Amino acid sequence: MPTEAEKMIKAHELLKQFYHHILVNTNKGQEAFEYLHKRNFTREMIDYFQIGYCLDEWDASLKFLKAKGFDEHLLEKAGLIIRGERNNNYFDRFRGRIIFPISDYKGNTVAFSGRILGEGQPKYLNSPESPIFQKSKTLYNFHNARAAIRKKQAVVLFEGFADCIAAFGAGVENGIGTMGTALTDEHIHLIKRNTDNVILCFDADTAGQTATLKAGEMLAGAGCDVRVAIIPDGKDPDEYIIKNGPELFKNEVISGSITFMSFKMRFFRTGKNLDNEGDRLDYIEKVLEEISKLDNPIERDIYLRQLADEFSLSIDALKQQQRKIYYSIR
Ligand code: UTP
Ligand code: MN
Ligand code: MN
Ligand code: MN
Ligand code: MN
Repeated sequence: MPTEAEKMIKAHELLKQFYHHILVNTNKGQEAFEYLHKRNFTREMIDYFQIGYCLDEWDASLKFLKAKGFDEHLLEKAGLIIRGERNNNYFDRFRGRIIFPISDYKGNTVAFSGRILGEGQPKYLNSPESPIFQKSKTLYNFHNARAAIRKKQAVVLFEGFADCIAAFGAGVENGIGTMGTALTDEHIHLIKRNTDNVILCFDADTAGQTATLKAGEMLAGAGCDVRVAIIPDGKDPDEYIIKNGPELFKNEVISGSITFMSFKMRFFRTGKNLDNEGDRLDYIEKVLEEISKLDNPIERDIYLRQLADEFSLSIDALKQQQRKIYYSIR
């Protein structure tokens, strides 16, 4: 007898194939296919990521699974269907949305995210937490990317589905996604079993940059070597690839990633006017505090010199102040 979890996974595997079939082989999937095509998702990418489409009908998924012997309570618990409040009827969760299957680290399909075609709220509708799906332990594309992560001894961390998929299309096969949520210790544990080298490649908007700072601190604290890929013009990786092409993305954005310390220096100067004395002192103080957190004396020296050069300060004065900060924060 299969367990409840095994049945839930089976239901997801069957639905994944069903949704993919509808997207690529049927007239009802054509509008969604066109939408993906316009966004530069090739057939190869659609197949690799098993992208699908859920019909814009009340209960097509439910009927499909019921015919295969699945029971409604189990499907509701797995987050695939919802019970209506008024008439108690069950209906499909992802109606009329493009489906991105999500697998656990073993490769079992355990959840879906459904994107609306075009504008609307929510943009992505996600499976709820269930006995087989915990967001805090799940990273998009982790199972598929694992071999490439190990081989390259590096992982690229994106926030979105589209970013992971577009990067894969651009030849970045070691990319995984946080799916917009905060990075957890469990995520870091999964990553660290495969590599210590992490390149953060979140969106260039304020939310993405703030998330970069937070994720970077956690990863660095766990002993990872953290680098940050900088996307110009406030874009996200997917938009960058569409505008500038795969080569620039690989060779400039990913290969040109900067150290986490350099990222922090950039981050702390945003919104500051360094010609203003108060802003300048705040900035220098903040950077010295970050330098104090570095364990490697050579690294500390590099950034102290950088700071001294930039603001025409004596390295001795900076070192003195840095040591003061060091003792005050430890
Ligand atoms: P973004 O808002 O940056 O979306 O959210 P995106 O990835 O660029 O999506 P496209 O390109 O417009 O299609 C980043 C990630 O946050 C999660 C998704 O995983 C998304 O990829 N998210 C976002 C949600 O779960 N729900 C939402 O409504 C929005
Ligand atoms: Mn995003
Ligand atoms: Mn974003
Ligand atoms: Mn984005
Ligand atoms: Mn996007």
